[in-house]
Amino acid sequence: MDIKLWREILQPYEMAVDELTMKFNNMIKEYHLLEEYSPIEMVNGRVKKISSILEKCQKKNISLDDVCDKIEDIAGIRIICQFVEDINKVVSLIHSRTDIKVLQEKDYITNMKPSGYRSYHIIVDYTVQTLNGPKSVKAEIQIRTLAMNFWATIEHSLQYKYKQNMPPHIRERLSAASTAIINLDKEMSRIRDEIMDSQNSFRVKANIISEILNLMQNLYKSANKREILKIQEEFYRIYRLDDISSLTKFLKELDIIAEGYRAQSIDASFN
Ligand code: GTP
Ligand code: MG
Repeated sequence: MDIKLWREILQPYEMAVDELTMKFNNMIKEYHLLEEYSPIEMVNGRVKKISSILEKCQKKNISLDDVCDKIEDIAGIRIICQFVEDINKVVSLIHSRTDIKVLQEKDYITNMKPSGYRSYHIIVDYTVQTLNGPKSVKAEIQIRTLAMNFWATIEHSLQYKYKQNMPPHIRERLSAASTAIINLDKEMSRIRDEIMDSQNSFRVKANIISEILNLMQNLYKSANKREILKIQEEFYRIYRLDDISSLTKFLKELDIIAEGYRAQSIDASFN
């Protein structure tokens, strides 16, 4: 197959990776907009390199005509979560979507691989709209925690370094590290509520402050400078109190003042 043909074959996979990555990132945004905790921490995507596809074909005895059918991870999406519990949530989010069809699931978290590898894999069917009409492609979605990802990344580098000949003592240490990762994930789950609470109040505070600053900015255009300076001083005073309810109260008062000047934040930039 020449390079031009490869490009044609890989194009819909590029589109699928771009679209899926964007869609999962939009899920994060939706959660943040609702001021809710997002079970997705981050998303990465990649299209398998031609050299890796060829290598896999050779290893698994796959003919080049069967590449699209038999290689399921040409399009790869990796979803990273903070907690093990988030993984189930992400899996059901994927199941509930009408634009992603689940073909196969592999739960390497309940059934850890002998290497110590843990992740939840879903093979999906996803349709992209090309100039020649709809084209459905397979994609592999790997869902794992930050800790599982740390382990898998290190182990993958070592696999690459040693090829098939990883020394037993390295293998054993990786296996021990994998047990440590299981315990780390468990410990994080135990303090999950506390962590989520603090992250949430951090986000709420950040949102309030950004609304306040937005309103002050708008007021700056319409209110008199002395009043603005007073408001600014009051804001710094309340900010130093580091108390969400005082900030919320200040925001409400500011909103009333801004209403007087018709300087509320929404739509202000369009006026
Ligand atoms: P592949 O030939 O790799 O596709 O194997 P498979 O078809 O049996 O799929 P499997 O679900 O086992 O693995 C798919 C992907 O998961 C791999 O391409 C890796 O990205 C990842 N993976 C699987 N096992 C391991 C492992 O032991 N270590 C690491 N680091 N990653 C793994
Ligand atoms: Mg595979």
